[in-house]
Amino acid sequence: MRRIEFFDTTLRDGEQSPGVALNMEEKLQIARQLEKLGVDVIEAGFPITSPGDFEAVSLIAEKVRNTTIAALARAESKDIERAWEAIHIAESPRIHTFIATSPIHMQYKLRKTPDEVLERAVYGVKLAKSKVSDVEFSAEDASRSDVDFLAKVFSLVIKAGATVINIPDTVGYAMPAEFAQFVKAIMDKTDGIEKVKVSVHCHNDLGLAVANSLAAVKAGIHQIECAVNGLGERAGNAALEELAMALHTRKDLYGVETGIITREISRTSSLVSRLSGMRVQPNKAIVGKNAFAHESGIHQDGVLKERSTYEIMSPDAIGLDMNTIVLGKHSGRHAVKQSLDDLSIEVSEERFEKLFEDFKILAEKKKIITEADLYALAETQEAEE
Ligand code: KIV
Ligand code: ZN
Repeated sequence: MRRIEFFDTTLRDGEQSPGVALNMEEKLQIARQLEKLGVDVIEAGFPITSPGDFEAVSLIAEKVRNTTIAALARAESKDIERAWEAIHIAESPRIHTFIATSPIHMQYKLRKTPDEVLERAVYGVKLAKSKVSDVEFSAEDASRSDVDFLAKVFSLVIKAGATVINIPDTVGYAMPAEFAQFVKAIMDKTDGIEKVKVSVHCHNDLGLAVANSLAAVKAGIHQIECAVNGLGERAGNAALEELAMALHTRKDLYGVETGIITREISRTSSLVSRLSGMRVQPNKAIVGKNAFAHESGIHQDGVLKERSTYEIMSPDAIGLDMNTIVLGKHSGRHAVKQSLDDLSIEVSEERFEKLFEDFKILAEKKKIITEADLYALAETQEAEE
């Protein structure tokens, strides 16, 4: 079965989320958890950007031994030297170098001609290759680049020694079917493509980062870049947990395997949320507080009879103990009875009908009925008798 590698960039692109700043200890804690989660590559940081980033990347390279550790560098000698200095002690180091290839970026940001960009890309890869065997090259803003120019850049960086070529949708502009076609066209037009791994790195500006990454999996890529809880620049990167569970749940459709230990997902998400201070929205797929919670009576009744009625994944697949039955105004008798049983509150059939009536009245006033409310309702019944 084809294997999709997970390249996690929580500590690099994720840390570029506005408002997120992690200290060295926190970064190491996250890196250790990512290792447990089974990611193939941890992008630990961008060492040229600050002494703190350099120190954190070095520490992770020294301590986290079972995962490839990547450091980001522009295609410039000072960046590449610094990246190598930070990761040279890693068990499996990778230099990740990049330059933008879209007309907009080349003209306005880099102020370079396409030929100059091409030359710089090759220079960066050659320099990185003189230090380490594993070199990833990213064409920033690839999805808004000319496909023939991009294929030419990739062909030449592969010749210069790149082992992974990455196709970023830097500004989250692509649409799934279009992106799949684009990736396929690049794979068809690039010389030496069979010698390297092809990767994508999708941003979420239009809410399509996961969909675009999955479309690229269908198109035949080998690596996806993503971040826990979808952290990253602006609207973020493709969410690791969504990609992992989509590929796991729809193995029938994608036919690929990954190294992700899905039972570590919930713990990883909570750790990243706590340390980054970026709270996960309750209705966030996979790791939101409500992702396995059922409120309406029909849904609760269905799940209590047979979980697969309203759950396509089991909560324990991501390391949660159980799904949550949330009692509220839409809940039915079955769910209330089950919750009373779980709390060992014994109520006769007759009393239950009255308790259920009181429950509905209370639920109209209060959004969520808690365990304490159930105890109180049961006690009121006893007192009234
Ligand atoms: O979004 C992007 O293009 C990036 C590259 C550096 C890979 O983060
Ligand atoms: Zn990015």
